[in-house]
Amino acid sequence: MNSNLVIQPPTDGQAFDESQVPLYYSRKTADILHKYGPGPRVHFHVGMFGHDARPNTTVSQRILKRRIVASQEAIVEHAARAWGAHSAPPAHLLDIGCGVGGGSLYWAQEHGARVTGLTVAVEHLTVIQDFARQAGVADRVTPLLGDIHDLDEERKYDAAYANESTGYMDRERLFKVVARALRPGGWFGIQEHFICRPEWTEFIDGYYKTRLGTLPEYIAAAEAAGFELEQDEDVTDRVAEFWVQSMAWNTAELDRVEASGVRSAWTRERLQESTITHGKLFRIWRDHALETRLLLFRLGGN
Ligand SMILES: C[S@@+](CC[C@H](N)C(=O)[O-])C[C@H]1O[C@@H](n2cnc3c(N)ncnc32)[C@H](O)[C@@H]1O
Repeated sequence: MNSNLVIQPPTDGQAFDESQVPLYYSRKTADILHKYGPGPRVHFHVGMFGHDARPNTTVSQRILKRRIVASQEAIVEHAARAWGAHSAPPAHLLDIGCGVGGGSLYWAQEHGARVTGLTVAVEHLTVIQDFARQAGVADRVTPLLGDIHDLDEERKYDAAYANESTGYMDRERLFKVVARALRPGGWFGIQEHFICRPEWTEFIDGYYKTRLGTLPEYIAAAEAAGFELEQDEDVTDRVAEFWVQSMAWNTAELDRVEASGVRSAWTRERLQESTITHGKLFRIWRDHALETRLLLFRLGGN
């Protein structure tokens, strides 16, 4: 286990305002589509670059976007391969906190899975339906409005997937409901950021409206629900570059808006705030104050 990790108690659930999450995503949907679109596979999570890859950022905004999207696809593909999905694809997968459906479409298109995508943001539903139609997988992707904490399905899915959504959730409840929803032997794959230096927690949670946790906290919650940790890959160093490329896209967008006076989906204040924050995010990742990990949990009883 990484020596940077600090064991700290789960964030106080009462301090976390769940009602803010759907509002946050309702407001953000247009921004996400503008920056990471046009789709049909649109992701809202960090991406992964090659070992020691530092692509020059003095390129066009279009190239920056292409790189960013490619890095998001790369991390999803990397995880799926590491988790054995190419040799044993899950027939039925639950995409927990599916956003605008990039991951759901990936699992349906690349692995032929039937996917249920769960989100708390009502705006995501029609967006996902449109994208699934465009990608020719409308019959395999079902977006659902709902809160994972209320899921009461039993033995329905072969796999569950959560890409940067577990940071919004109560992990004890999350692992419990997912354990019930999976068939015996099913897997739960997670891409998430984990706190290593607690002094950054307030800043990150404030910015993203999350309640990020530590790796030991996740493992304890998972084991209590009957899961075993099968894989744990630290991809922090390959993710740090994402913030540099993303910051360059933001700066290019600011220049574009200011030079031509065109309207952006993002307000100037949002862009400025986001760009300043990116500087901090890069340092946080470079210093491993937070770590991005790909975790594979397996449910016992197969
Ligand atoms: C950072 S986005 C990630 C989206 C998507 N997984 C992706 O990789 O593009 C987080 C997502 O988690 C969802 N979410 C947050 N809390 C949730 C909850 N309690 N139940 C279900 N979904 C939730 C939000 O609606 C949002 O779609």
